[in-house]
Amino acid sequence: MTKGLKQRIIEQADMDLEKVEIALEHHLNPNLELVKEIASHLLFSGGKRLRPLLMIHSARACGYNTGFEITFSIIFEYLHAASILHDDVVDEADTRRGKKAAHTKWSASKVVLTGDFLMASAVDIAAKTREPDIISVLAKITRDMSQGEIDQLTKKGKLDLSEKEYLEVIERKTAVLIQGACQCGAILAKANKEKEDALSQYGFHLGMAFQMADDLLDYTASAQELGKNPGADMREGKLTLPLIHSLANASLKDKEWMEAAITAPEFNLEQFEKLKEKLYKYKGIEYTLKKAQDHVTKAKACLDGFHDCQSKQLLCLIADYSIERKV
Ligand code: IPE
Ligand code: IPE
Ligand code: MG
Ligand code: MG
Repeated sequence: MTKGLKQRIIEQADMDLEKVEIALEHHLNPNLELVKEIASHLLFSGGKRLRPLLMIHSARACGYNTGFEITFSIIFEYLHAASILHDDVVDEADTRRGKKAAHTKWSASKVVLTGDFLMASAVDIAAKTREPDIISVLAKITRDMSQGEIDQLTKKGKLDLSEKEYLEVIERKTAVLIQGACQCGAILAKANKEKEDALSQYGFHLGMAFQMADDLLDYTASAQELGKNPGADMREGKLTLPLIHSLANASLKDKEWMEAAITAPEFNLEQFEKLKEKLYKYKGIEYTLKKAQDHVTKAKACLDGFHDCQSKQLLCLIADYSIERKV
């Protein structure tokens, strides 16, 4: 199923994706070779380019097809790359896309500053759209993402983290960027407010589903599939929905065991497997998947008002793929 969806998306998006690669390379022009090296380490290491694709097809679903949607779409890959560089420092993650995380190769300071460089590059390209509303969306994204990450950091290790708190974090750290990419596609196309709102809501629901799927994969995928270490969330003291739901429904004995496992500074593979069993037993996995599926359904419903076209079909496929994916 996953392979089918992925292949169908790639088949339809192939030519655009090639152009996105060229634009990403072309607009990366720091004065310092080191900044280029650090940025390129992450940028050209096999990201899915989901956010550019969303911007391109949101614009086209609103009738915009000048070719400039490709150039402008890289705004969202630069922002994404910046957030990933920052995130791996914050999370002290050592692997990303199957490679060493940038801050383990260079220093955290250099990597954070390279992230800032990429953010500024994104704003520079955005200014060329001559659409102030796009700049406002970028500002909101950056404000929300930084706060989402700080909020998550503050709540690290909080064993009674509520589902509401979790949802607030994932909206800010992930959904807002995906939402913004879709909304800006509509703004670029000078679509009416109704269409802009519909695409914005599509992006919001897709983003929520996408992060929930990511949080599921952290428990269910292998390191090879994931390109980062499974179980990292728990090791980072990050409580995500599968765990939050299971803790809320576990027997006192199991809850105590789970809490001890989460707070133990070192835990082995065997304990991780046992914890996973509890997540299945108390339906944390099932519940999260159901919530993610609900968001996918809502995302697709937001596209109802658009007439049938290749871009609309692709946006629907991406929504399905967001939770079927293995990486
Ligand atoms: C990873 O995003 C960060 C999250 C928001 C979960 P992606 O899964 O889109 O990362 P790449 O760019 O394809 O590696
Ligand atoms: C999502 O957070 C990434 C960003 C918002 C930058 P995570 O910390 O959960 O993502 P991964 O697991 O590192 O990709
Ligand atoms: Mg992380
Ligand atoms: Mg993080």
